[in-house]
Amino acid sequence: MYLTKEEEKMLNGEMGYAKQIAMEILVALGKIYNAEKMIPVKSTQISGVSYKNLGEAGLEWLEEIARDGRVEVLSTLNPAGVDLEDWGKMGVDEEFVSTQKKIVETYVKMGVQPTLTCTPYYVGNKPQLGDNVAWSESSAIIYVNSVIGARTNREGGPSALASALTGRTPYYGLHVTENRAPSIEVHVPELRDEYDYALLGYFIGKMCRGKIPLFKGVKSVDNVELKALGAALASSGDLAIFHIEGLTPEYTLKPIEKMERIEVEERDLREARDELNDDSPVDLVFIGCPHASLEEIVMFMEKLNGRQVRKETWICTSRSIKNLCVELGVKKKLEELGVKILADTCPVIAPIEQVGVRSIATNSAKGAWYSRNLNKLKVKIARMDELVEEAVKEY
Ligand code: F3S
Repeated sequence: MYLTKEEEKMLNGEMGYAKQIAMEILVALGKIYNAEKMIPVKSTQISGVSYKNLGEAGLEWLEEIARDGRVEVLSTLNPAGVDLEDWGKMGVDEEFVSTQKKIVETYVKMGVQPTLTCTPYYVGNKPQLGDNVAWSESSAIIYVNSVIGARTNREGGPSALASALTGRTPYYGLHVTENRAPSIEVHVPELRDEYDYALLGYFIGKMCRGKIPLFKGVKSVDNVELKALGAALASSGDLAIFHIEGLTPEYTLKPIEKMERIEVEERDLREARDELNDDSPVDLVFIGCPHASLEEIVMFMEKLNGRQVRKETWICTSRSIKNLCVELGVKKKLEELGVKILADTCPVIAPIEQVGVRSIATNSAKGAWYSRNLNKLKVKIARMDELVEEAVKEY
């Protein structure tokens, strides 16, 4: 693998310990995937923040790197295990919170921005078409590749951090134009909202592992729907990119081979819905996976229409959108109705077992998928209207 003089220096330890470790990680990755060289990246998004996933060993490793590690490019952080300010509302113990804060401080020491959101593109880390980046949050990766047309592989937390510390990533996979072309045509029925897009993503993710779908028949799609579709595809199928005919920036890329074709019918979406419903009483109603936009939060509030929730109800979002909700009076209104707006976190990566939640209702296929497979919760996927009714229901 070709390395520039500066990259050689990093690898030899002439530019410090952290850069050396980081370059070792990147070179090892490059060798596995036969990358011919490194390329510069414009930004990184770093996962591996929640103490629940990182653990003590992960924190020790980070502290070691942070002794002399400083990021070279705009770098933002994925969510943590708690809302760092309102953690008291979550029912999480103080020991978890203090270690969680230490993790975030360690990233901050390296120059990473503590955005603590899986939607960095809402809060200033928004690359442009063709930019190479190194992101490690599956829903953000697929969004940035598909909707923006920037380029990233599915990085893990350590490789994204390595890119942050060196400003480089190995040139392979989705950084290469030919590897971004669609390989399967997916004809879709009429889709109404983000819930339908989430079901479509869940269904197609399972069918199209290792392929790149080109959706056809979509007349219009909004940002919330694109976010839901991508998050679901990335969960059930580990996909990192999709295209929509006429709507996403790279849908005209020429397929290498003749494309396969799938026709999705409404009954496929019903099947996906049934698969993500455990028919169990609900402990927690949740929206904001990926983190909610202001528009989604206001929509939830309008549907509540002044009614008090009777069930634990969380809306998860970024700190900056939560602050906007404070300014606009939206947070106060929702809190008066019993809804908790939480920043920095979500139920999937929070220590949900400490909160006493055994089942969750959400409009997100990703939220349902991980709550079931990672946290072993019972799940229910439903439209936002149904979630509102679930939240206000007497029980
Ligand atoms: Fe974000 Fe948590 Fe969903 S990190 S994408 S809200 S699982």
